[in-house]
Amino acid sequence: MANSAPIRFGAIGCGGAGTDRIRQLAAHELGLKVVAAVDINPPRLDNLAKVIGYDDFVRYTGPEDYKKLIDENDLDAVGIFTPHIPHYDHVKYALQKGKHVIIEKPMVCGAKNALEITRLCDKQKKVGIIHYQRHYELKYIKAREMIQKGVIGKVTNFFVYMAQDWSGPNWRGMPEFSGGGQINDSGSHYQDIILWMLGELPVAAEGFIDNYYHTRKLDVEANGMFHVELTNNICGRLIILSDIPGGFVDDVRIVGEKGTITFRGDSLIHYDKAENKYYEEALARPKAYPVSPCDNFVKLLKKKGTKNQVSFIFGTRVALLTEALLISARLGGKKVYCEDILKACGHTLDDLAY
Ligand SMILES: NC(=O)c1ccc[n+]([C@@H]2O[C@H](COP(=O)([O-])OP(=O)(O)OC[C@H]3O[C@@H](n4cnc5c(N)ncnc54)[C@H](O)[C@@H]3O)[C@@H](O)[C@H]2O)c1
Repeated sequence: MANSAPIRFGAIGCGGAGTDRIRQLAAHELGLKVVAAVDINPPRLDNLAKVIGYDDFVRYTGPEDYKKLIDENDLDAVGIFTPHIPHYDHVKYALQKGKHVIIEKPMVCGAKNALEITRLCDKQKKVGIIHYQRHYELKYIKAREMIQKGVIGKVTNFFVYMAQDWSGPNWRGMPEFSGGGQINDSGSHYQDIILWMLGELPVAAEGFIDNYYHTRKLDVEANGMFHVELTNNICGRLIILSDIPGGFVDDVRIVGEKGTITFRGDSLIHYDKAENKYYEEALARPKAYPVSPCDNFVKLLKKKGTKNQVSFIFGTRVALLTEALLISARLGGKKVYCEDILKACGHTLDDLAY
């Protein structure tokens, strides 16, 4: 790709999230052209053309046409915005064919598959970035920096509550596409943000899941409550709910020996234990820090940025934790060790190290 030429981009899955991400990419000041797009629901492609303002991209509509899209269009990069389980086939093919990839969360389901894809991406020397947008939110960037600098001392525990009115619509309610219901859907963001802010790996999990959305029992996991253990003797509570009436709420708290971090809206509240005082921290984007996964992706490809803020290894760490949560619930709340999951597929926690 000549540095002045627009990135030649192909999109796989042009639904809600896909259309928004493709719109952002196509509007990027450094230049990206949607050369081809595939969706099994053709009106989605008409809508995409309206949203990006041009329709001269090659269209595909078959479930296996992502291969044609990749093989026939001399692409630099591919975006994967399909349901969760097919992510694996789509990203594997794209990487094997030497494409840079931006992919929606959860990157790939299951630790074994996720690690395989991470290694393939490294081997192919391609940019692989996951659309975990919280890595670009000022309050989380600041919290991560404060934790890493030791401002709240050694972290001892955390508390995460996320609740959404989530009925498991369409493919989200089908086990063959969802890969773990709400635990793997919106819940994926919160597993990620904890691992990312703390810079730790998952060690063990135990907890319970039910499939109820109000009075209706879904075919996929809806509500879960877990005890999670991380490296460095950190443990915490993770609660993911789907049957709250009304809007989305979350509550993330990190406790250290010298203080706590909590979030109120877009603000970060720091409690300093020694001073017994609460501070609302000033938030600012660090120099050259991209504003979004799409911005990060384009800048990396155009050599205008050097750091990938959500490389595939983050998706692998989350995939491992998600797998432990799901297995524990399936076993009636038994404690599940992440090392055991990894051992069964020939890996160790060291393979996921920071
Ligand atoms: N980061 C976020 O906050 C966020 C928000 C919403 C969705 N997502 C993620 O985005 C992804 C898509 O979710 P969505 O809400 O856009 O769902 P969606 O149903 O709106 O879009 C998925 C699209 O993929 C298409 N599709 C399915 N199988 C295909 C195939 N084999 N080939 C080509 N197209 C295919 C569908 O027709 C649909 O248009 C999921 O991974 C989801 O978790 C992330």
